[in-house]
Amino acid sequence: MEIGIIGAGTMGSGIAQVAAQNGHQVILVDSMENALSKSKSELQFSLKRLEEKGRITEQQSSEIQNNIIYSTEITSLRNSKLVIEAIIEKLEVKHQLLYELESVVSDNCIIASNTSSIPIASLGSILSNSKRIIGIHFFNPAPVMPLVEIIPSVQTSSVVLEKSIQILKDWGKVVVVCKDTPGFIVNRVARPFYGEALRIYEEGKADFSTIDWAITEFGGFKMGPFTLMDYIGNDINYSVTESIFEAFYFDPRFKPSFTQRRHVEAGFYGRKSGRGYYDYSEGAIEVFPSKDEVLGKAIFERILVMLINEAIDAVFMQVATPEDIDLAMTKGVNYPKGLLKWADEMGLEKILNKLDELFHEYGEDRYRPNPLLRKMVREKRSFF
Ligand code: NAI
Repeated sequence: MEIGIIGAGTMGSGIAQVAAQNGHQVILVDSMENALSKSKSELQFSLKRLEEKGRITEQQSSEIQNNIIYSTEITSLRNSKLVIEAIIEKLEVKHQLLYELESVVSDNCIIASNTSSIPIASLGSILSNSKRIIGIHFFNPAPVMPLVEIIPSVQTSSVVLEKSIQILKDWGKVVVVCKDTPGFIVNRVARPFYGEALRIYEEGKADFSTIDWAITEFGGFKMGPFTLMDYIGNDINYSVTESIFEAFYFDPRFKPSFTQRRHVEAGFYGRKSGRGYYDYSEGAIEVFPSKDEVLGKAIFERILVMLINEAIDAVFMQVATPEDIDLAMTKGVNYPKGLLKWADEMGLEKILNKLDELFHEYGEDRYRPNPLLRKMVREKRSFF
């Protein structure tokens, strides 16, 4: 089966590699010739490294490279049975592209988008056969991260959904299905990891390095929130938070933080700009956390219950199943444990009490315990 990918940037190149590794003929299209040549040489480089590590043979490497055809012409996608677009995150540009694409491909071609924030329903609205639209959301880097979120919209047919799930499973991906709602699973459920950490800092309870220490030490996360935001880039992380806040009709749970905004405004993007919450310049003074165990545990617990409350809300609002939500957080963003499994282990009553305590203390809607949590405590139920 021939697979078309549009956009040879970070994501499109990675997705093309995944499809090519699985034996497909891949047509990778980009409007910019230099994006294609960059993509080609980066693939060569990363396959060379895999060869050196003994993960693939020289023959496999050349097969993968031979499976990809690079083109600036959208008409080269005429025989593709699945086309995944991964171009810039702008609705008008994606609409224009999808409109043109539909006139090129066959009637039974599935049209998918790798968008992180645009509703799939709105992308599908430009197609004359909108039953073929679907969200197929990979994580960066696509060849390494196992998770793929599949997002059927109100228009998507069940055949297109089933076929898409099968293809991604055949590619060895961990597939979760979620509703066409802002942030899908991962980008929604992960918000408190950043937001609550920023809030704790803003209240003067602890500095960046102490909060990072608390999360890694007591939660077993690979990175604390501030280290992670510096990796992702504060500009990107802030704009995701802002777009989710707006998309949720300004629900205070998702309110962005002034601290992060000021860091963005100052150009403190993180590693890529040499300065974020931490200083990455040569000779920078290293900062050390204050390793107060009581404070550290309290910080970790507050962030964790907020994450769990968000995961429970995703179940409550039928965004995805508890199994898929836990898979998404462990396979998409490497959480040490699924949040709902964690909830079961901690005890739902303890989580409810902690959230009630925060809610009474602050009187803010962001701390409201989810109704499903309250109900499950009343009925003495657990998730698994
Ligand atoms: P990128 O900026 O690295 O690449 C975009 C590519 O699309 C560029 O090479 C550009 O020349 C090309 N392009 C733009 N308009 C085009 C058009 N009309 N026709 C053909 N090619 C066109 O972007 P990136 O980061 O790969 O993101 C692509 C999509 O994937 C976006 O929708 C983004 O939201 C989504 N995404 C990004 C993730 C990330 O970590 N970067 C993760 C998951 C999803």
